[in-house]
Amino acid sequence: MSKPLYVLNGPNLNLLGTREPEVYGRTTLAEIEAACCARADNTPVVFRQSNIEGELVDWIQEAGREACALIINPAAYTHTSVALHDALKTLDIPVIECHLSNPLAREAFRHHSFVTPVADGMISGLGPKSYELAVDAALSLVARRVP
Ligand code: DQA
Repeated sequence: MSKPLYVLNGPNLNLLGTREPEVYGRTTLAEIEAACCARADNTPVVFRQSNIEGELVDWIQEAGREACALIINPAAYTHTSVALHDALKTLDIPVIECHLSNPLAREAFRHHSFVTPVADGMISGLGPKSYELAVDAALSLVARRVP
């Protein structure tokens, strides 16, 4: 069995479906998880959400040991978390930052990301499709890697 692809989700994303549907749409996180699993095909997916910064740090460290690649939607921690930045910086696997909305088209406080400088790429603004494209991007980076 190949190493799993980790997909980590930050605060308030458990509320997708009912949270600000005009911004985030009506798709639930469980539906996004199912779409990621289908898109990843034979690669197993570990899909998690936490409202706790330290738990996300622990899971990023775990991904460094266990995962072939990491997709992360850090949600509000994108714009605040040096701890997530530092944890991601230790990884030697492909990292894709993912957002449902386009933070650069929103309030000024969302324009800075602590995650983008330590990610291989960033996909945003496409709703749940951002996650599916992030799966494609992560797995293509894995396939391109020299073992
Ligand atoms: C988000 C964008 C962030 O600015 C916001 O805090 C979120 C969700 C997105 O997926 O569009 O919670 O990461």
